[in-house]
Amino acid sequence: MRAVKLAILGATGAVGREMLRLIEEYQIPVEELRLLSGRNSVGKTILFRGIPYTVQIADEESFSGLDYVLGASDAPISRRFAPAIKKSGALFIDNSSAFRMDPEVPLVVPEINGSDAFSHSGIIANPNCSTIITLIAVSGIDLLSPIRSMMVSTYQAVSGAGIRGQQELEDELAAYLQGQVPHPEVFPAPIAMNVIPWIGAEDSDGYTDEEMKMQNEGRRILHRPELTVNCTCVRVPVMRSHSISVTLWTEHPVSLADARDALNKAPGCHLMTDASCDYPTPLDTSDQDLVWIGRLREDHTHPNGISLWCCGDQLRKGAAANALQILQYLENGK
Ligand SMILES: NC(=O)c1ccc[n+]([C@@H]2O[C@H](COP(=O)([O-])OP(=O)(O)OC[C@H]3O[C@@H](n4cnc5c(N)ncnc54)[C@H](OP(=O)(O)O)[C@@H]3O)[C@@H](O)[C@H]2O)c1
Repeated sequence: MRAVKLAILGATGAVGREMLRLIEEYQIPVEELRLLSGRNSVGKTILFRGIPYTVQIADEESFSGLDYVLGASDAPISRRFAPAIKKSGALFIDNSSAFRMDPEVPLVVPEINGSDAFSHSGIIANPNCSTIITLIAVSGIDLLSPIRSMMVSTYQAVSGAGIRGQQELEDELAAYLQGQVPHPEVFPAPIAMNVIPWIGAEDSDGYTDEEMKMQNEGRRILHRPELTVNCTCVRVPVMRSHSISVTLWTEHPVSLADARDALNKAPGCHLMTDASCDYPTPLDTSDQDLVWIGRLREDHTHPNGISLWCCGDQLRKGAAANALQILQYLENGK
């Protein structure tokens, strides 16, 4: 792969820092690197490959001469800078939700619809973290018989809400152990010793926007506009790695043996087969790219149904790793 010139927009956040670590781990050749942030972190120094880089404030002039801008900030910031990035000629691979439903912007999970990345016109969107992990876990079955519907519950780690989410769990745990009452700022209720069945903003019919992403983004990634998903998103006091319970219904019946075989071969998956413990936990899957799958079983409510449990590191495969794999896919021509 050629050496690339790139910037990370939001380099000091949870996803941005993970990107930096993975660029080193994946040994991506880098000719030039710009670390961009908001006002909070400007002037900070971050080591990359042993060299100190000073974080610069992002502005409209930050992108000239680059090959790629990796977006790791919130949607309004991506929307603000997208025109300047486009004008600079750099390709914007964005982790925010800003462009995920834009029909002109490919929404890509390389293991599933990598070739969509080639039809970009300056922006490629990285899907929602739970959506990436779930689709990686079911895509092998989808190849056997198209998935029509899914019933999903997510158990999402606090780092899904960024560095402030991680900090809030740490602070609340410390407060709780000292007998103090926590005062949540990031989450809508205390997260230490608790679970919160609400993530995101109200969307429609009682669902949140986070819950609707699984259906809306899933339709685009699988090229299946009629896919229906009933999703409940739950925040849990886990630092990192999301867990997801899925029941899916296919067009035709799929045997468990065929499903196992397909998931064993599916890229990006690790199917657990040890009869004494066949379920992954967030700790098993933290800091790695594979989505682990277990508890594969028949759905007793429907002949075409299969249930499974999966876990995946949402900072890696759900965000930073997926974006860098898109970059590698484009650079390597596949
Ligand atoms: N966390 C996850 O698991 C996850 C997974 C998938 C997708 N995402 C998406 O990835 C994006 C980043 O999430 P995160 O969790 O990494 O958030 P985060 O930890 O809160 O980091 C946000 C980053 O944005 C920067 N920023 C703030 N204002 C800015 C500005 N005006 N110009 C440029 N940069 C600015 C921050 O810089 P300062 O240090 O200066 O504040 C920081 O580097 C979000 O869109 C999120 O939805 C996150």
